[in-house]
Amino acid sequence: MSDIPVTATPAQVRIFDTTLRDGEQSPGCSMSPSQKLVMARALAELGVDVIETGFPASSQSDREAAALISRELRDTSLCVLSRCLPGDIEASARALDGTARPRIHLFLSTSPLHREHKLRMSREQVLEAVARSVTAARGFVDDVEFSAEDALRTEEDFLAEAIAAAIAAGAGTINLPDTVGYTTPTEIRGLFERMIANVPGARDVIFSTHCHNDLGLAVANSLAAIEGGARQVECSVNGIGERAGNAALEEVVMSLKVRGAYFSADTNIDTNRIVPTSQLLQRLVGMPVQRNKAVVGANAFAHEAGIHQHGMLRHRGTYEIMRPEDVGWPSSQMVLGRHSGRAAVEQRLRALGYLLEESELDLVFASFKALCEKQRVVHDNDLQTLMQDGADSEGYRLSSMTVSDAGHRARATVELSDPDGDRVFETAEGDGPVDALFAALAMATGVDLVLESYQVHSVGLGRDARGEANLSVRYEGAEYDGTGTSKDIIEASALAWLDVANRLLRQRNGTKAKSEMAEA
Ligand code: KIV
Ligand code: ZN
Repeated sequence: MSDIPVTATPAQVRIFDTTLRDGEQSPGCSMSPSQKLVMARALAELGVDVIETGFPASSQSDREAAALISRELRDTSLCVLSRCLPGDIEASARALDGTARPRIHLFLSTSPLHREHKLRMSREQVLEAVARSVTAARGFVDDVEFSAEDALRTEEDFLAEAIAAAIAAGAGTINLPDTVGYTTPTEIRGLFERMIANVPGARDVIFSTHCHNDLGLAVANSLAAIEGGARQVECSVNGIGERAGNAALEEVVMSLKVRGAYFSADTNIDTNRIVPTSQLLQRLVGMPVQRNKAVVGANAFAHEAGIHQHGMLRHRGTYEIMRPEDVGWPSSQMVLGRHSGRAAVEQRLRALGYLLEESELDLVFASFKALCEKQRVVHDNDLQTLMQDGADSEGYRLSSMTVSDAGHRARATVELSDPDGDRVFETAEGDGPVDALFAALAMATGVDLVLESYQVHSVGLGRDARGEANLSVRYEGAEYDGTGTSKDIIEASALAWLDVANRLLRQRNGTKAKSEMAEA
């Protein structure tokens, strides 16, 4: 967290979460009502101020979700989306029936492009629909939000008129969405400043920002809107949403937190819940975030480069602007790999209980570097194996293999030479060629691995390209990675499997040798 003292009382920015509406309506992210309920509970625990649960007029599932959530969550404001149509407004009011803190969120496009091609409505007709709909919604609930869809491409004089009409009819929140992710930070900041300064009644309502990420500017634009006076941000967990998504909640919240002195604004979010909530959503919709995603990606607090690791070991502030624990990660991660230096390897070995002389460290570091040529990440158990006797024993080697996938079951035969140089043959069947191959290898080596992930990709270009197989397996509770490369991807897979199995066998033999020595 920033050490710079905050001078003014920070402005409170409301977090309006649209994961369950704008997020859920995007490709690959749909959720059942019960999944939405699970997510809504997590959002409430996270501390969001408003949860947009869906668009009741659009589907039965959204109506059910709104009802389920409103029965359970009594302290968070629950909102549903509605077009400026009487039928939609009534459907929204019904869906919110019994909700402790209901909000109807009305939207209507204001931009010339949308007025002409989508709505086929004149300026006057739009203004009349806004006033009529806000009035109708206020007949059902006290809390009404109006969104001028495509506000950032609307003529400013007309936008001001639409906002004024919504405020006069009783809207308490005015949202100016950048529906197509078109604006820039300077532009949106200016727009908010001018609307808040000039529209009649603007100072009595909350202005809200809702930015899409088509140019990768959603978070920057949302923050600029806050600088321009917005006091509500519409965002979604992991930034899911239409097309390139919405502003990512975790990025907006942590920007306001880490740069608190700069923005002089804060939220009610319990930042410790950010990572668990992000991971829950990833599991619910089956959409993982990329490793380098800010705040919640697996690499967000991982350091591999030697210089960075060295700096981090001296003072974490050298390369981290927030503490991983503050967003719900267990701790920073020193990823040991090709770019890591001696200091990081030594520190990890110390943490594992190995205190080495300089000369011993030289030897281990050389073996570590050699291992990095074979696999991307070196885990703790790899380091332990390096430290054990027999680390350079050869293990099983692949002599030949055949795989056929003719009938309804695939069949693989492998020929290996074992650590004593004897031949071992095994044949097995499986659901596909790789499944059959791994089964044959398990039988030949006596090592039973639980496959966690398996990927094959090409390395190199054109005729020189080779297949690289990477797999992660679980064995007796620990995770191990293996890599194999070959012109043939099935052979690369066999080599990756043997890479892990041989390391495990060495580890097992080393442990046995140690306990025999201890007993003797
Ligand atoms: O992007 C948008 O304009 C919207 C509105 C419905 C608020 O999602
Ligand atoms: Zn949107």
